[in-house]
Amino acid sequence: DPTLADDVLAGMRDIPDFPINGVVFKDFTPILLDPSLRGRIVSDTVARQRGRVDVVAGIEARGFILGAMIAHELGVGFVPVRKEGKLPSAVHKMSYALEYGTATLEIHQDAVSNGERVLVVDDVLATGGTLAATCDLIEQCGASVAAIELVLEIGMLGGRDKLGGYDVHSILTV
Ligand code: PRP
Ligand code: MG
Repeated sequence: DPTLADDVLAGMRDIPDFPINGVVFKDFTPILLDPSLRGRIVSDTVARQRGRVDVVAGIEARGFILGAMIAHELGVGFVPVRKEGKLPSAVHKMSYALEYGTATLEIHQDAVSNGERVLVVDDVLATGGTLAATCDLIEQCGASVAAIELVLEIGMLGGRDKLGGYDVHSILTV
């Protein structure tokens, strides 16, 4: 689908000064409202990954939306990677740097098993901290990261450099 990247770019809405002054936020909620475009994103990802993964991990919150749809189409399980304190059973934890301070992500220790091939799904790759922490969590469980699938990659932030060795695919890079 050679026009998918163009249509995704056109489908995003630029919000100036969100979440802070001077930042132009790329809002993907209009894409979620469009069943055709949303479906093409899911189909494109599924076509690349079918047969290559045992389970999908989606990152709270926007990765839940995309990851659950992709897991459904692949016919595999879905694992939520959540912000600290939300998962009820025993967890692995990983902290990562934010612009100011740190954040922590968690996964249920028994969510993925030894040797499973995990597809990690999120909406955006920016600095890469979120995805690097998620990959660490999957490896703490003894599973392996088969691939990382994103809708949007902000190239100038260099997030891909934090994900050396992983198979990273973005539908659109800006
Ligand atoms: C955003 C985005 C990615 C992450 C990318 O999530 O959805 O998950 O930032 O940034 P990074 O590559 O610099 O780590 P955010 O933490 O804002 O939360 P949300 O998904 O719950 O809105
Ligand atoms: Mg997020």
